[in-house]
Amino acid sequence: MINTDSVLHGFTDLKNLDDLGPIVLNQAKGIYVYDQSGKKYLDANSGLWNSVVGFDHPRMIEVAKKQYEKFSGYHSFFGRISEPAVRLADKLIEISPFSRGKVFFTNSGSEANDTTVKLLWFINRRKGKPQRRKIITRINSYHGVTAVSASMTGKPYNSEFGLPLEGFIHSACPHYWKFGHEGESEEAFTIRMGEDLENIIQKEGPESIAGFFAEPVMGAGGVIPPSQGYFDLVQTILKRYDIPFIADEVICGFGRTGNLWGSQTYNIQPDIVIASKCITSGFFPLGAVILGERMTQQMMDASYEAEEFFHGFTAGGHPVGCALALEAIDIIINEKMIENVRRLEPIFMGGLKKFEGLDHIGEARGVGLMGALEMVQDKKSKKSFDGSISIGERVANKCIENGLICRPLGPSIVLCPPFITTDDEMEIIFDTLDKTLKKVFSEVKSLI
Ligand SMILES: Cc1ncc(COP(=O)(O)O)c(C=O)c1O
Repeated sequence: MINTDSVLHGFTDLKNLDDLGPIVLNQAKGIYVYDQSGKKYLDANSGLWNSVVGFDHPRMIEVAKKQYEKFSGYHSFFGRISEPAVRLADKLIEISPFSRGKVFFTNSGSEANDTTVKLLWFINRRKGKPQRRKIITRINSYHGVTAVSASMTGKPYNSEFGLPLEGFIHSACPHYWKFGHEGESEEAFTIRMGEDLENIIQKEGPESIAGFFAEPVMGAGGVIPPSQGYFDLVQTILKRYDIPFIADEVICGFGRTGNLWGSQTYNIQPDIVIASKCITSGFFPLGAVILGERMTQQMMDASYEAEEFFHGFTAGGHPVGCALALEAIDIIINEKMIENVRRLEPIFMGGLKKFEGLDHIGEARGVGLMGALEMVQDKKSKKSFDGSISIGERVANKCIENGLICRPLGPSIVLCPPFITTDDEMEIIFDTLDKTLKKVFSEVKSLI
């Protein structure tokens, strides 16, 4: 066994790690990964939401080899660019919600969000509105880990870093099951969410807000689809104050919700789209900021005046990453992956919903191929398990023992299987989960 003491693990319970040890994975095939002892795991989380066309898709491997042989790497500064980066920018505009626009390449989703905030600040300063800097996101949202994108993320753990930075504000989380008041209809709840947003805008001053960022479905917040009518209302409010809507499609983009973009699923007309993750199906780190026509014009005006946009990443627009992204997008679209997501959606959601019959499943929720089971101690009162029980970790660890990778997110278990998942594999996921949940729930009975 390899000793991993030299590794500093991020987003890992380090005490737990001491007890359980790390899982060193060395191989993958289809939707399965294998650890160093040869144990096989069905990865129902597509890696981290991203490995959707299969870990060993032959077209992806072939295109990487070819691109490495042809041109192994180059930057995109000073007007230089590789051909795959140009073709990828064209492709992203073609499949985006925009008829025209521009694309800026990064290495990750965090950097893409960070870049967008700087871009908005840059535009507003050049427009003579330097005070227009504040960013609104939502409580429970996840936008990344850089100082800016972590400030956008609406999770309490960022206080460990003294974040958020000044001017990052979080509006209410539109999770009806959890935050709806006793007797409040979903429609009334949505109106309350809209009021919360509008109150923030008015309190902060509309002229001080640079943009509103939202994931169409909150992913790392625990898979939270918006309440009914939420995005229609939000867009009406933002238009009223001329605040740009930035759709963080890092998880939802490229098919996860059953459409190419989560924005299509929820009728969002964004000004900017943030893409990453499935863009290369996990074969390369790559993110993209896709600017619509209006933002492109503003960006070009500002850049002409300032002479340049003083921003960029050494490996942004890497030719191998871009060639892989072009291939992944082609596979997702032309190998009918989104059709498979749609075909599987009722089986997946039906499987999740069945668990609502278990004693400790409070809510089964999701859309497309992203779903979560929220666990509660008491279903009627929705009372959570005591933190010391670590219910999410318990279930996820037992799943691992049983050869299934799924992710604990607070009191929820998240599933987001790859787009190539078959009916048989879906059955394995649900059989393993059923066995695991029943076992864990019987074990915790004595602790509550
Ligand atoms: C919606 C969303 N935005 C941004 C990010 C950050 O992306 P990265 O981890 O590539 O920096 C994530 C990562 O999970 C995400 O889910």
